[in-house]
Amino acid sequence: MSDKITSIDPSTVPSYTLSTGEKMPAIGMGTFGSDHFSAEDISDAVAGAIDFGYRLFDCASVYGNEDLIGKVFKNAFDKGTVKREDLFIMSKVWNDQHREVEKSIDKTLKDLQLTYLDAYFIHWPFPNYHAPFANADDRNPDSKPFSVDEFMDTWHQLEDAYDKGLIKNLGMSSMTIPKLEAVLPLCRIKPTLIEVEQHPAFQQPDLYQYIVDHDIQPVGFMPLGSPTRPDRDKVAEDVDDMKMPELVAIAKAHNVHPALICLKWAFQRGSIPIPFSIYPAEYQSNLTSITEDPLTDKEMKTMATLDKNNRLVKGEVFLWPGADDWQALWDIDGTITKE
Ligand SMILES: NC(=O)c1ccc[n+]([C@@H]2O[C@H](COP(=O)([O-])OP(=O)(O)OC[C@H]3O[C@@H](n4cnc5c(N)ncnc54)[C@H](OP(=O)(O)O)[C@@H]3O)[C@@H](O)[C@H]2O)c1
Repeated sequence: MSDKITSIDPSTVPSYTLSTGEKMPAIGMGTFGSDHFSAEDISDAVAGAIDFGYRLFDCASVYGNEDLIGKVFKNAFDKGTVKREDLFIMSKVWNDQHREVEKSIDKTLKDLQLTYLDAYFIHWPFPNYHAPFANADDRNPDSKPFSVDEFMDTWHQLEDAYDKGLIKNLGMSSMTIPKLEAVLPLCRIKPTLIEVEQHPAFQQPDLYQYIVDHDIQPVGFMPLGSPTRPDRDKVAEDVDDMKMPELVAIAKAHNVHPALICLKWAFQRGSIPIPFSIYPAEYQSNLTSITEDPLTDKEMKTMATLDKNNRLVKGEVFLWPGADDWQALWDIDGTITKE
């Protein structure tokens, strides 16, 4: 563990070049408290992470902590620890704001105390709102299946915000191949980033390849298999990524925690992992995992065999009345689920 190191040189952290030509750090910090961690704990972690050398942060209005994280950013700029252009800051529009995206961006910019965002995502492809701390079987009677027209209306609002200089890159999240097939040809400005669930037991190989083939940079959420995810997203059959024997054996060979193997694999695969932790020893070693001691080709091949198609965020809370089950959200039969 690297908990004795106080900072690393951020220029030693690898970056990827996006389709726009812009560079982006190859690893970042997540900021979703999963209903367990307080906004104060998370903003303290962001402060510690900037000091340590993190330059990429994955925020969202629905995480309920952008105001405190904004104070941390302002403090870091005022102290001269970093300049605005040194950071890559991402945020997302929540499901209840799809018809008023600019208002959502304005609130996020005000909370984060910024004049622009490096990337802005449609957080979920559905405008289906659920209350905070909802249970998996809660249904909003107004919820509806995916609509290409509604999604594109939201996307065009992101494009307008891009034209105004409020957001530098556009992103989509939790998409499927059928949804992407339907919407990508309709975009005036294509997404540079797509954020989807990705961890060793849920590699989404076809979706991943589709994203890369379309010159879009994948960002992987829940890269460690999110052991602290909300209880509503836990079922008995879920695989614990960090306990898979082959992965544990690779971790032993490298003398590191299995978490760091998940991150090395994600980075070497070409994705940007955004692990979450409020603990310095964890978030520091997460960052340095990709600057040192890479996995061998043989280990990468072994990692590729660990996919269990184990989706953790099944998304039941976004279902509409009458929907069969959570698989309806993910277009399992290769077509967009209509009802
Ligand atoms: N776009 C979306 O819809 C979406 C959805 C979900 C998440 N996200 C983003 O993805 C980020 C990451 O996802 P996540 O927080 O759910 O899951 P995660 O990063 O896979 O897992 C986080 C948990 O892993 C443990 N951990 C972290 N570093 C560790 C280390 N070095 N060694 C051992 N354990 C470690 C911590 O648990 P302990 O506290 O027990 O150590 C931490 O709470 C979120 O914060 C959010 O920004 C986006």
